[in-house]
Amino acid sequence: MKELKILAILALFTLVTYIGIEPFAHSQMSPLVANANFNYEQEDIDLAKVRIEEAKSVLKKAEDNLAKNTADENLKNAVESAKKDVEVRENDLTAYQELWAQADEIFALKGNPENGAEIFLMACASCHGLSSQGMESPFDAEMSSLSYGVVVPDLSLTGAVYDKKFLGALIVNPAQALKVSKKFNDENPLPMTQFFGFGEDLNQEVADIVAYLQSIAPQSVSDKEVFETACLRCHDIKYDALYSPTEKSALKGYMGSNPPDLSVMIRSRLADYLENFINDPQKKLDGTAMPRVGLTKERTEQVINYLEKVGDGKKDERIVIGIGMIIFFIVMAFFAYMWKEGVWRDLH
Ligand code: HEC
Ligand code: HEC
Repeated sequence: MKELKILAILALFTLVTYIGIEPFAHSQMSPLVANANFNYEQEDIDLAKVRIEEAKSVLKKAEDNLAKNTADENLKNAVESAKKDVEVRENDLTAYQELWAQADEIFALKGNPENGAEIFLMACASCHGLSSQGMESPFDAEMSSLSYGVVVPDLSLTGAVYDKKFLGALIVNPAQALKVSKKFNDENPLPMTQFFGFGEDLNQEVADIVAYLQSIAPQSVSDKEVFETACLRCHDIKYDALYSPTEKSALKGYMGSNPPDLSVMIRSRLADYLENFINDPQKKLDGTAMPRVGLTKERTEQVINYLEKVGDGKKDERIVIGIGMIIFFIVMAFFAYMWKEGVWRDLH
């Protein structure tokens, strides 16, 4: 009986550490955020509201501080800048509400792929290649890096990897859809230009482009292809000998910081973090230079699978060995118990 009590106490302490203390420590070191939400409309509006609340509470604190010392210039400036931040965050919410209302309208239309092919040639092919349709990229990597800061992606797989509603939003307002509108605006325009339409119904034209990109995309796309389409223009994966075609110095000039090599990112950040980060980088790291990419949930999981294969290739082996060890200890415990019983029986 004594052994059972010791076991129960041990189990209790292990559980308290594992379920209580460890997650608590994590939540303190890296604040919890809502789960990844692949309904981008709701994700953007929810996050914009959270940011407004945060900005308002900063403002309130600044005002309280100023009330205690009304002559302090620094405190006055702090209140002014907090007020501005609230305003910026509120404008952001309005911008997302407008953008997604339009994307909803685009989404509800039935696109015409033949029309979309023609519009694509006029509106997108001046920058983007479509190699599956025999359209090579109009620039080589060096030229593209110099002109845009990044190699303009080929769009052959676009219709299969990006969320359909996101694509509509991206075409009418790239900076807002990619969540980089703080940095790129009228004075400092994003290299991907906004599509204003050719004079017919703008929303119908966008729906046609999206229908075209979806009609030419393959049904199935490998994990690595998703990575190549969505991430490789900025990130290297040295462990798989994948190197971004973009020139590093141009990319740094464009993004403001160098995107890290992702070979072992899966080990330092773990799958959950990556899903959240890829879903909405700004939620995890407010102000990060990485744009939101707009993949569907399924394709995000494929990217994570790929990162797991490259950076943590022994995971399956580890799990098998782990299960083997647990079975071994259970069998050993059984024999040890039998042996102990036998010894004590003889002694009585
Ligand atoms: C003036 C050049 C230019 C034009 C015109 C242009 N794009 Fe782009 N596009 C870019 C650049 C540059 C990027 C990469 C931006 C980045 O990585 O920050 C990009 C990125 C994209 C992406 C990837 C976005 C993501 O979420 O990762 C898609 C999809 C796309 N463009 C579609 C289109 C479509 C459709 C059109 C036509 C309506 C179009 N683009 C017109 C330059 C252009
Ligand atoms: C247009 C360029 C661009 C694209 C495309 C892009 N990233 Fe990034 N990424 C960045 C930059 C820049 C950073 C560094 C962010 C910073 O320093 O704030 C970054 C950082 C990261 C990080 C590190 C986050 C951390 O916690 O430090 C991860 C993970 C990541 N990216 C994953 C991805 C994945 C996966 C994709 C494709 C689905 C992708 N990125 C597409 C530019 C990009």
